[in-house]
Amino acid sequence: MGHDAAIGVFDSGVGGLTVAKAIMAALPKERIIYFGDTARVPYGGKSRETVTKYTEQIIRFLLTKEVKALVIACNTMSALALDTVEKNLSIPIIGVVKPGALAASKVTKNKRIGVIATESTISSGLYVHYIGQIDPEIEVLGKACPLFCPLVEEGMLSDPVTTEMAKRYLDGLIHQDIDTLILGCTHYPLLTETIAEVVGKQVTLVNPAYETAKELKELLKSEALLAQQPENASHSFYVSDSVEKFQSFAARILHLDAVSAENIHIEEY
Ligand code: DGL
Repeated sequence: MGHDAAIGVFDSGVGGLTVAKAIMAALPKERIIYFGDTARVPYGGKSRETVTKYTEQIIRFLLTKEVKALVIACNTMSALALDTVEKNLSIPIIGVVKPGALAASKVTKNKRIGVIATESTISSGLYVHYIGQIDPEIEVLGKACPLFCPLVEEGMLSDPVTTEMAKRYLDGLIHQDIDTLILGCTHYPLLTETIAEVVGKQVTLVNPAYETAKELKELLKSEALLAQQPENASHSFYVSDSVEKFQSFAARILHLDAVSAENIHIEEY
């Protein structure tokens, strides 16, 4: 695969755009092909088998676009399916959980880290595992926040209902003296303002997207796959549900005048 091929970035919906945005900022010459499985979102309560099957379908689709590398911009797929899918791939693939664990371990001072994520990510125990490998003295406290994803998909980023849910979900973690909180679902960085207000200044929020973009840059460099083309490469967007809602959401998140997306039937892959 040539260095000017695109990078495939995918998520269960719109949340992965937060990772795509970090990649665009860190690697402005790279072309991204984004897929959001908007018809089947949320993945967060689904079984390992289902999430793995969906991940394999998305990868098969992205491989038809001859991508040179893949980024799973979804914690749930990274936690449940990355291990399985990477075995059969001939191009590099990274997820967001390992970079997120690394970023948070660098930030914590009192060695008490909170992780908020989907039910499946929390019960996989993967954040606890990676942070334990980095520093076994760090205590990791997880909390599933299943309603955050639909609130984001509905565009309720700043809303009294979202604030109320954040209070209910985060109250327990705040009282356990965490100084760092991993936004362990790619949808949650879109709720940063609300979450920051609820947890207060003493807690640093960690968005795994930045460390993921950094890891991707290192990976492309080491594989001699960094793009050589001029900046402002044009990106492509694909979704499994209707394009209209996605297009306006994506333009807002990515600060672009307009985004054009195409619908595809992912079950066919
Ligand atoms: N964006 C996904 C994640 O990072 C999950 C949201 C969902 O599909 O439940 O885990």
